[in-house]
Amino acid sequence: SYKAVILIGGPQKGTRFRPLSLEQPKPLFPIAGFPTIQHHIEQLCSKVEGLREILLIGFYQPSEIISFVSQAQRDYSVNIRYLQEFTALGTAGGIYHFRDQILFGRPTAVFIINADVCGDLPLDEMVAFRGTKPEASCIVLTTEATREQSVHYGCVVVDADSNEVMHYVEKPTTFVSTNISCGIYLVTVDLFEQLSSAFDKRSQLALHNDGDSMEPIEAIWFEADIFPNMASTGRFFALHTTRWWSQIKTAAAAVYANRHYLRLYHETHPQRLSKQTDDGPTIVGDVYIHPSATVDASAKIGPNVSIGKTVIVGPGVRLKESIVLEGAVLQDHSCVMHSIIGWNSVVGQWARVEGTPIGPNPNMPFAKLENKPLFKPDGRLNPALTILGCNVQIPRETIVLNSIVLPHKELSGNYKNQIIL
Ligand code: GDD
Repeated sequence: SYKAVILIGGPQKGTRFRPLSLEQPKPLFPIAGFPTIQHHIEQLCSKVEGLREILLIGFYQPSEIISFVSQAQRDYSVNIRYLQEFTALGTAGGIYHFRDQILFGRPTAVFIINADVCGDLPLDEMVAFRGTKPEASCIVLTTEATREQSVHYGCVVVDADSNEVMHYVEKPTTFVSTNISCGIYLVTVDLFEQLSSAFDKRSQLALHNDGDSMEPIEAIWFEADIFPNMASTGRFFALHTTRWWSQIKTAAAAVYANRHYLRLYHETHPQRLSKQTDDGPTIVGDVYIHPSATVDASAKIGPNVSIGKTVIVGPGVRLKESIVLEGAVLQDHSCVMHSIIGWNSVVGQWARVEGTPIGPNPNMPFAKLENKPLFKPDGRLNPALTILGCNVQIPRETIVLNSIVLPHKELSGNYKNQIIL
């Protein structure tokens, strides 16, 4: 049998996801109509035979996670629980701390998934691959990146014949390999022995350095404490994928992921995609509309749009390449493109909310989406999506371009390339 851990992190992470992470933990942000980690849960449930339990590990307050967990528990036929770290324990510290619960029932192997990645994850192939490598204590999923971008990831040098990981360097300062870690692993009970030695080593160090480290001694990182040492020991292997995979570090990446998860629905959940009907709105390409949303028949929606719960889309609205969150209202003839419209925000009549199209460089094979910082070195805003935080009011006939509007703001006048506080 199998288990899975999803590393959801905690509140001080995900600052690049503001203002959207102010309202809700980033792992619960809806993409293609469903919370980010629900896509992981669905892929685990559909691709891993014998999956017994999914453990979400992080340091959010339980109150922020619990309603998601109880809903997911009802929707999927697998046990789902949240285990809270008492403080940030790194990527492997929580797994070590909760080892008894993870290993309870003696699972054959355990998936570990970073919550902030998305993709068409070949979890079934990882299970099959493990069958051919009985000596493996860890299998890492890898993908190809450009030389330039690879250094922002865990870089993996792999033996072409055996698929063994010979060398692992996290975010190297100079080029190491275009093979990068996807932040998805399949591990066996042996790995826990290595976590245990890493923990002992840290405790020893802490005794001698009397605590000049900011981190608790219980913090352990796969990327620094485990993987570099495990390389070349005959127990660490890589499975390469060429399917779609991306990080979700920024709001722009959420809109990019939205596009891809909608496309995957053609195979996995065709019923979630809106179909053109005689008396409904014009649907272009892939669109998800929550059943409780009201969309006027004269609106034109798509491609690549997700519309959340109880959203109202008025007559003559044009909406594309965007995510509209629960409770938002797009009034008559407004136009929204390349944007995220926050919870309960209102876009007035004839208003125009527009961002800049984003995507990986199409001329560079294997390019990933850049995690661009908000500002350029000259202090101007990098062109990006337009994002409205929750409860923002855009008056009628207003234009908002490439801007970020913080929650509860009522705009007056037009804005371009600004952060509106
Ligand atoms: N539970 C818990 N506790 N989770 C954590 C903690 C923690 O203290 N710190 C980070 N995480 C979670 C994050 O929520 C995220 O899902 C994942 O661990 C990795 O986060 P980062 O530490 O920000 O690393 P990264 O995303 O820059 O790089 C990692 O992922 C890349 C792929 O996306 C590394 O594993 C890279 O090697 C890898 O290429």
